[in-house]
Amino acid sequence: MEVIVRPDTDSAVKLTARLIADAINAKPEFTLGLATGGTMEAVYAELAAMNKQGKVDFSLTKTFNLDEYIGLPPEDKNSYRYYMNYHLFDKINIDKRNTHLPNGMAEDEAAEGERYDAAIEGAGGIDLQLLGIGCDGHIGFNEPLSSLSSRTRAKPLTPATFKQNSIYFNPPESMPMRAFTMGVGTILDARRIVMLITGERKAAIAAKAIEGPISSMVTGSAIQMHPNVVVILDEAAAAELTMREYYDHVFATEPKWAPYR
Ligand code: PGA
Repeated sequence: MEVIVRPDTDSAVKLTARLIADAINAKPEFTLGLATGGTMEAVYAELAAMNKQGKVDFSLTKTFNLDEYIGLPPEDKNSYRYYMNYHLFDKINIDKRNTHLPNGMAEDEAAEGERYDAAIEGAGGIDLQLLGIGCDGHIGFNEPLSSLSSRTRAKPLTPATFKQNSIYFNPPESMPMRAFTMGVGTILDARRIVMLITGERKAAIAAKAIEGPISSMVTGSAIQMHPNVVVILDEAAAAELTMREYYDHVFATEPKWAPYR
């Protein structure tokens, strides 16, 4: 795992967007794993701006999102399909037929999980998975105690996730308490993982996921088992990391990071 700390949120976001754009430019028929949430809105705004400036082309890109609320149709403003269209897909030159999320309205939940994993496999697997992390340590909606080898399935959400996400719902109680999510195992199958963590409220969980023991209590810690991970943080989110000097040294001296310094 490599850890890169940027001085502020904006430069952490820009580095994340640039890594994604560079990866797509190196392999146009790219399969990109996407995340939702407040943190990613700025990443998608940056990718949309880069697309407009001709710096990245999404015409051959396929996408798979991590998760979707169960019971919300695509046209619901709180569905992640709506979020993705609004923040990214409607602003870039992607073919929407190549964009995928779990179907929150699927009646057969087990079949939907299997269908989604098979669709990812059919697309050749995910080249780069973008991840955030929840205040309870989740990646996707893999709440504490999710098996580290889990596949896409329905998952009941925790009170911590309700607290974090119900602010987007009116009334807050209308937030679904179940979601389809890629499993931890599904996420770890991606060829590369880029995790973005910003803000003071994530400092404690960031330290647990990056430097703590691997545990299903913090599913974000599972990225420690993946051979190709970069975690990008702003100063606020990095506040509780103990190996900071080493991370800064690697970013300042490893040749592959020269274009990004
Ligand atoms: P946030 O969500 O970006 O809204 O903090 C991240 C997550 O829960 O994974």
